Amino acid sequence: MKKIPFRQCIAAIMLVILSCSAQKTYKVASPGKSNEVTFSLTKTGQPQYILSSGKTKVLEPSLMGFEFDGLPKMTDGFKVLSTEKNTVNTTWDQPWGEFKKIKDNHNELTIHLEETGGQKRKMDIIFRVFDDGMGFRYSFPKQPNLDKVKISNELTQFVFPADENVWWTPVHRENSYYESHYRKTSMSRTDTINTPATFEAKSGLFLAVHEAALTDYASMTLLKGKNNTYTSELVPWADGTKVYTQAPFATPWRTIIIAKKPGDLVTSTLMLNLNEPSKITDTSWIGPSKYIGIWWGMHLEKFSWGQGPKHGATTKITKEYIDFAAKHGLNGVLVEGWNTGWDGDWTADGRAFSFTQPYPDFDIEEITRYGKSKNVRLIGHHETAGASQHYESQLEDAFSLYNRLGVNSVKTGYVNKYLDKKEWHDSQYGVRHYRKVIETAAKYKIMIDNHEPVKGTGLQRTYPNLMTWEEGRGQEYNAWSNDGGNTTDHTVLLPFTRMLSGPMDYTPGNFGFDYKLPQGAKVNTTLAHQLALYVVLFSPLQMASDLPENYEGKKEFEFIKQVPCIWAETTVPDAKLAEYTVIARKDWNSNDWYLGAVTNKDARKLNVPLNFLDAGKTYKAEIYADGAGADYKSNPYPVSIESKTVNSKTVLDVNLAPGGGTAIRFSEVK
Ligand code: NOJ
Repeated sequence: MKKIPFRQCIAAIMLVILSCSAQKTYKVASPGKSNEVTFSLTKTGQPQYILSSGKTKVLEPSLMGFEFDGLPKMTDGFKVLSTEKNTVNTTWDQPWGEFKKIKDNHNELTIHLEETGGQKRKMDIIFRVFDDGMGFRYSFPKQPNLDKVKISNELTQFVFPADENVWWTPVHRENSYYESHYRKTSMSRTDTINTPATFEAKSGLFLAVHEAALTDYASMTLLKGKNNTYTSELVPWADGTKVYTQAPFATPWRTIIIAKKPGDLVTSTLMLNLNEPSKITDTSWIGPSKYIGIWWGMHLEKFSWGQGPKHGATTKITKEYIDFAAKHGLNGVLVEGWNTGWDGDWTADGRAFSFTQPYPDFDIEEITRYGKSKNVRLIGHHETAGASQHYESQLEDAFSLYNRLGVNSVKTGYVNKYLDKKEWHDSQYGVRHYRKVIETAAKYKIMIDNHEPVKGTGLQRTYPNLMTWEEGRGQEYNAWSNDGGNTTDHTVLLPFTRMLSGPMDYTPGNFGFDYKLPQGAKVNTTLAHQLALYVVLFSPLQMASDLPENYEGKKEFEFIKQVPCIWAETTVPDAKLAEYTVIARKDWNSNDWYLGAVTNKDARKLNVPLNFLDAGKTYKAEIYADGAGADYKSNPYPVSIESKTVNSKTVLDVNLAPGGGTAIRFSEVK
C-alpha cells in the first residue's frame, strides 16, 4: 500500500472537515421570485446574508452583528437553533398618501440564533422579501444574559459587487438635518453618508438603502469601508453610546429597494409595508391641506419674526392672508413669529420661546374666530431652536391651546446644530423627542409638519398625523443661501432620493423671481417648473409659498388652486436621474389625473404616452407649459396655457425650457 505523506493526510482531513462544516444556507425569495436572500453563518459562526435579483447579485456576503458597552460582542460563535417561514398577501388602505391602497405581499424568514459558547445569548434575524426589495431587522428576545444594554455598534454590512455610483449627502458635515444637495460619486469617494442613499449599480439596477420604523433607536448612517462595503454607523448620543435599550427589543428594518428603472423607486411601498398599522383608530380629523403663510415674507426680509415695525404676525396681516386664502379656496394660513421668544437671535437658545403666549399684536382668539367664519384654519407654529426639553415642558399646554382654538396642524422647527446643545437630531435622543411630539399631537387631534426633523422611515403609517416634514433643502434656500440657491437638478432628483423617506414640505409655488437679497440666491427654475412641483413632490400639506401679491391676478395660480395634494395612484412615465422627471398621479377624490414634468438646466422635448389614463375615456388636458423664450436664468416667467383633447392612446409632446416644467390637469369629458 502506498503511504500518504503525513502533511498531505492532514490537508485532506482539513478539507473534509471544512466541507462538512461548509455552512448550511437558508433561502427566502420574494413572492414573484424576483428577489432572493440567502442567509448563512460564516466559519466562525457570524451571520451573513446575500441579496440577489434574478441572476444579478445585489449584495455579496454581508456580515451582521453587534457590539455592546461592557458586554461581550455578539458577532460570531452563533448556531442556528431553528427557522420559521411565513407569507403575507394583503392589501391595506391609507388615510392619505400617494396610493389609496397598498399591497403587502412578502415572504418572511426568521432565523433563531444562539451563541454556542459563553452566555448562550439569543438573537433573531427576520427577513422580509418583496418583489420591490427586502428588509431585515434584528430582534433580541427576553433572556437571562441580556437585559439592559448599551449598544456601542451595530455591524450590519452592505457589500456591493462593485464600486457602484451612489447619490448621497454627508452626515452632520454640512449641517445636521440633511439639508445638502445630493451628489453622485462612486462609493469609494463618499464620506459617511445618510440614508436614503440611491445607487445606480453597474448591473443596471437602481437600489436605495434606507431603514423603516425607526423607533427608540438611533438612525442608521452608512460608514464607508474598503472593498465596496458600507457598514451601519448608528448616530451616537453625546456620551458616545449609540442606543440604550433593554431586551426584548427589535431594531428598525434595514431596507433595500431594488428597481429596474428609476420610477420603480418612487412607486415602491416597501418602507410603508415595514411599519406598524395605524395606532390612531379614528382618522376622520386627519386630512390634506393647501396653505399659504406669513413665511416667505420673513425669508425675503419683508417681515420679521420678532417684534418691531416689520413684524409679520399681526392680527391685521393675518386677517388679510385669511381673506386671500378664503377667496382662492385654500384652507390654511401658517403664521410664524406669533409667539414670544423671537426677539434678538432666536437661533441661539430656544429657551426664550413660549408656545402659549402670543405677541400683543397677535390676537389669536380673534384670528381663529375670524378664520373659522371663512373656513380657513390657522396653521400653528412651534419653533424650538433645538431646545427640545424646554418644548416638551410646554407640549401639553401648547397643543391643548391649539386644540381649543380649532388649530389642527402645527409646523414644528428645530433650527440649531444640536438638540439641547449637545444631541444630534437623528440620535436616539432625537428619535424619542420627535415621537413624543407626534404622540402628544395625536392626543390633541393635531397634524404635524416637522422641520429640521429626524429622517422619515414610514412612521406616517403608524401615526398618520405625521403628515409631512422637511429633511432636505427646501425652497427657503433660494432666499438666503450663499451658494446661489438650489441647483437646477435638485427638485428633479428629489423623488428618487430624499422623497424615498416620505412626503416633503418643500414649499413650492414661487411666482416672483426678481427679489434681491445680499446673499444673491435665486430660484433656478421657470414658473411652469414651480407648478409641476405640486405633482412631482408629494406632500399632503402643500404650501403655496409665495407672497399673496405675487399670485393675485395670475392665471397660472389656477393650477395651484386646483391641484390636489393626496393621490389615489402614482406612476412615473419617464425619468432620468437628475436630468428630467415625469410623474403622473390620480386625484384621491375624483377621476382627474395630473402630470408634472421637470427638467434640469437643459431644455428637452419628451414624448409622454398617456397610457395611465382610463382606456376608452376622453379627457380635457389643461396644459401649463414653458412659454416662448422661457429660461430659468433670464426669463422664468412665460407660461403658455392651452387645452387639448386626449385619451390613453395619446402620446403628448412635452417641451421643457432650460430649468423648465409642464403641469397638466386631465379631466374627463363626459
Ligand atoms: C426653518 C424652517 O425650515 C423655515 O420654514 C422656518 O421659517 C424657519 N426655520 C423659522 O422657524
